[in-house]
Amino acid sequence: MLVTGGAGFIGTNFIRYTLKNFPHYEISVLDKLTYAGNFNNLRGLDIRFTQGDICDTNVVDSLVSQADIVVHFAAESHNDNSLRDPSPFIYTNLVGTYSLLEAVRRHEVRFHHISTDEVFGDLALDDPSRFSETTPYRPSSPYSATKAGSDHLVRAWVRSFGIAATISHCSNNYGPYQHIEKFIPRQITNILSGRTPKLYGTGEQVRDWIHVDDHSAAVHAILSSGTLGETYVIGADNDHVNNRRVISLICELMGLSPDAYEHVADRPGHDQRYAMDSSKIRRELGWKPRYTDTDTGMREGLEHTIAWYREHEEFWLADKAQVEQSYAEQGQ
Ligand code: NAD
Ligand code: TYD
Repeated sequence: MLVTGGAGFIGTNFIRYTLKNFPHYEISVLDKLTYAGNFNNLRGLDIRFTQGDICDTNVVDSLVSQADIVVHFAAESHNDNSLRDPSPFIYTNLVGTYSLLEAVRRHEVRFHHISTDEVFGDLALDDPSRFSETTPYRPSSPYSATKAGSDHLVRAWVRSFGIAATISHCSNNYGPYQHIEKFIPRQITNILSGRTPKLYGTGEQVRDWIHVDDHSAAVHAILSSGTLGETYVIGADNDHVNNRRVISLICELMGLSPDAYEHVADRPGHDQRYAMDSSKIRRELGWKPRYTDTDTGMREGLEHTIAWYREHEEFWLADKAQVEQSYAEQGQ
């Protein structure tokens, strides 16, 4: 199995989950080690690692030719960065996916594409509907627009060239190894480093949070019994929990008062609500999340995540001041 972007947040967790639960896979990783990738995440694991760019067609061709299956996580993944400079998003998310598609076409290799819920745009806060496999695309940011473009490429390669591919759209993940620029680890490490947690705007926005291990389990369900050419939406029914509730819960779990955070400048074009209807994958593939829809479900996942950041200062401390400096320049 070739895993692209395996030194990033979800890729690292997916590889660890795979080695533990599906040890028959031999894993090869292709990762450029951008600011978001960290080789130390994989140190000591029984994998083959290549530092390289998914846009480099020679490297991609050679690695894909040796694989039976490609799971494609590599991407530029942070909305706030895509607002500062969209160019690496165009390059990696679009050109990189194209380069992988051409290689899997040449070598007839099974491909799983990791998309996101953000390609569907957002819902109004008072709209109770959820995204499903048939929701039209309406991306809002350069990040989500380039992810949407990469999905269209995958579907075109399925239809035009008959490649053996599946796509999944997962909601916001949380868990160990997530870069501290993202909402949950930023707040945890703010508190651990004596800073005040930062909430964008009023914090009414809703993300359908899912623990990263539940995402990994869903991807494996698709790899083992998904239907080729199909798309699967993945979510854990946490669409009743807004950002304000999450930041309060983090404060509370870390021994602070639930309102020990500050409001900072809102994100331009901020998506309001994401909510996932994951009934297809549950019904057809028998997948269900372990960290589920109650406040307590998220509490347990957050407790583990907080403990992990507390015990792994080496993962984040050296970058913390720089990350906060660039947020401060945006008033965030
Ligand atoms: P991440 O930013 O933590 O990791 C991305 C990895 O890709 C890094 O290791 C980076 O070095 C690597 N990479 C970037 N450009 C590359 C290139 N040109 N060539 C090779 N490697 C490159 O991202 P993540 O949060 O782990 O997200 C992984 C995937 O899951 C992405 O496709 C993202 O769109 C998708 N996704 C993420 C979430 C989430 O909540 N984080 C939710 C749904 C879907
Ligand atoms: P983020 O983790 O960047 O993921 P995404 O943009 O893909 O949803 O942000 C999650 C939510 O948290 C989003 O509504 C923006 C908000 N947010 C804050 O309130 N404060 C922060 O410091 C960050 C980084 C995000």
